[in-house]
Amino acid sequence: MTIQEEIDRRRTFAIVSHPDAGKTTLTEKLLLFGGAIHVAGAVKSNKIKKTTVSDFMEIEKQRGISVSTSVMGFEYNNYKVNILDTPGHQDFAEDTYRTLSAVDSVIIVVDIAKGVETQTEKLSNVCRMRKTPTIFFINKLDREGQDPFSVIDEIEQKLKIQCVPITWPINMGKNFKGVYQLLTDKLYLFDSEDKQIAIEPLIIPSMQSSKLDEQLGKENAAKLREDVELIRNVFPPFTREEYLKGNIAPVFFGSALNNFGVKELLENFLEMAPPPQKSTTLEREVDPSETKFSGFVFKIHANLHPQFRARIAFIKVCSGIFKRNTPYVHVTTNKTYKFSNPTSFMAAKQSVIDEAYPGDIVGVYDTGNFKIGDSVTEGEKLHFIGIPSFSPELFRYVENTDPLKYKQLAKGLEQLTDEGVAQLFTHKLNGRKIIGTVGALQFDVIQFRLEHEYSASCRYENLPLYKACWFKSTNKKQLDEFKKRKTAFLAEDKQGRDVFLADSAFSLQMAQENFPDIEFYFTSEFK
Ligand code: G4P
Repeated sequence: MTIQEEIDRRRTFAIVSHPDAGKTTLTEKLLLFGGAIHVAGAVKSNKIKKTTVSDFMEIEKQRGISVSTSVMGFEYNNYKVNILDTPGHQDFAEDTYRTLSAVDSVIIVVDIAKGVETQTEKLSNVCRMRKTPTIFFINKLDREGQDPFSVIDEIEQKLKIQCVPITWPINMGKNFKGVYQLLTDKLYLFDSEDKQIAIEPLIIPSMQSSKLDEQLGKENAAKLREDVELIRNVFPPFTREEYLKGNIAPVFFGSALNNFGVKELLENFLEMAPPPQKSTTLEREVDPSETKFSGFVFKIHANLHPQFRARIAFIKVCSGIFKRNTPYVHVTTNKTYKFSNPTSFMAAKQSVIDEAYPGDIVGVYDTGNFKIGDSVTEGEKLHFIGIPSFSPELFRYVENTDPLKYKQLAKGLEQLTDEGVAQLFTHKLNGRKIIGTVGALQFDVIQFRLEHEYSASCRYENLPLYKACWFKSTNKKQLDEFKKRKTAFLAEDKQGRDVFLADSAFSLQMAQENFPDIEFYFTSEFK
């Protein structure tokens, strides 16, 4: 196969949802179709939910397991599918945001009863910002839920995206009859008893066909005809081009638990979804079909498996062919590495690979040299962008509690924040270290890992802040004045960039009003 053919057959994506909407169940069903696993329950998801802060030990245990589900690759109908796993717990949302930097498209799972939830909204915002092609899977049709039109309306209103239904449900809950495929006019009947994978659809020659009445009963058939007419009048037609631009989102309905609507989702997804796309670097655009290898680190996993002490850095191949035992340059340090045991992931299995193509994820063992966002190339100085840090929402001062272990603490904080567990800032005025996170659990994880991996101990002091935002201005006078007035609220991030520590939404608003020439940013990447 040529490199172009290898690229064209790859689909690298993530399934995301608010916890409990059914992401894990859907992922597992897709893996069953792909033959990557053979029994339900085989994937130990890295779902860390229903945990409280005191359960962080459980989280650590799960993190150890989850390395094998970080990437779930399988072959289906000659496509190479790479599903990138994302944490189920919302305190780890930043990991999810970063994973989204390595995918070419996403499937968002929504619970028909709950509709758009907070995490759905946050994740969808990130996808919209990146213009990532998005498909919605409305799940749990075997239960009573909201009217499908209202759920779609809610998605359109809250997530600001034009939806296009591809399948449409006939009733729900106890009366759920199945879904109608609007593009192919096929009827998929639901049988709650029959949970087999292959259910052959019926081809419906026209909406007026009596086949509909026979299969669904007169009342249901009439309702479906009405719904389909409305859909065809109200929603724009599906075009792949608009979907690929991120302008429209195809919507599918089903029940992941019952394996219903999942095969249709998978097969339509494979045809619609984009192959590996161009990547942007500070220097230039990188095309996947370029002959030279390039890639970036989007995730670092401290492998807690007792056999391996090293961390695994996950590299997304952006161009060319990655080859084992070939010298590649780590652009940040300009050091050359040969990876002798690069790992690929096929669901729960890991194996050493000789080659990887654009869209694939390669895991390489690392002893603390890589950080999130780093590029690896054949020598060209490329800096991939689109892997920003997001403004944290919780902040604490971190203090050393063992004067003899100062160095260990500094190293631990440096490495853990390189890994993306949290962000590290230094207060400009007092030089104190501040840890910023998106979830409270990370503070416990950091303290635990500092102690167990670096023999360092720390304590926290609460720092009630609203947001940390990056800022810039071309108006030097105003910038200087701002910095002078806000000295007590300024910090530096790890790259030495200034950050404003806003203690309330009001103080941020006032800063914006009083210093109109200064622009404030909630992500670390801005031009
Ligand atoms: P998540 O990864 O998005 O957090 O969700 P997950 O797949 O774990 O699903 C959350 C709960 O919803 C699970 O039940 C799961 O069985 C259920 N579920 C998923 N899809 C469907 C569906 O199509 N219909 C129905 N009725 N339920 C569905 P649980 O009781 O929380 O967990 P478990 O004990 O079944 O694992």
